[in-house]
Amino acid sequence: MTLNLFECPSAVATGQEPLAPGAVLLRCFALADESALLAALGDVTAAAPFRHMATPGGFRMSVAMTNCGQFGWVTDRTGYRYDALDPESGRPWPRMPDSFLRLAGRAATEAGFRQFEPDSCLVNRYEAGTRLSLHQDKNERDFDAPIVSVSLGVPAVFLFGGAARADRPAKVPLAHGDVVVWGGPARLRYHGVMPLKKSHHPLLGNQRINLTFRKAG
Ligand code: SIN
Ligand code: FE2
Repeated sequence: MTLNLFECPSAVATGQEPLAPGAVLLRCFALADESALLAALGDVTAAAPFRHMATPGGFRMSVAMTNCGQFGWVTDRTGYRYDALDPESGRPWPRMPDSFLRLAGRAATEAGFRQFEPDSCLVNRYEAGTRLSLHQDKNERDFDAPIVSVSLGVPAVFLFGGAARADRPAKVPLAHGDVVVWGGPARLRYHGVMPLKKSHHPLLGNQRINLTFRKAG
């Protein structure tokens, strides 16, 4: 892979940074698709607007969320689940844009996971102060497929932990266009996002958008 260092200030020589066995950070991997991704994101959020869901404990999540693809990740007082319908509208989630699907597949392949076909893309929106506490992604039916996570907009510090919640997480700075892939032995690692610092991105304003691609069903 060749990198344009003007466009990718955070890139190291190869653009690939191993985080753990089965986990890699692909610096600026999504930059080349930026305009297609942002246009598609606008279509998705017009059809299924961001909303703050409730946790099973009754708290309002500070991260605003929506989904596209066959299944969407949702939470409410009854628990966490994947649902083929948007509970706000009663309609299926918007279909997964081709640009999303292609990027997720390319990133997975680059990280060593062949033939990744996500059926779910969770779209998270963070604003200043928004955080996501340490958790495992384990609502999916099987854990063979990796997770592909795309960062857009304002930079954030990603927490990449171990197999146990108490394992001290690595602090991984993520910028616009960075992609993290974890699967195989890393599939169930704890992860989260530190409170977002106030900042501005020329294309996305004061927010960070994260796309999480998963095979849910
Ligand atoms: C997630 O774990 O669902 C999202 C992680 C991120 O926003 O980077
Ligand atoms: Fe997660």
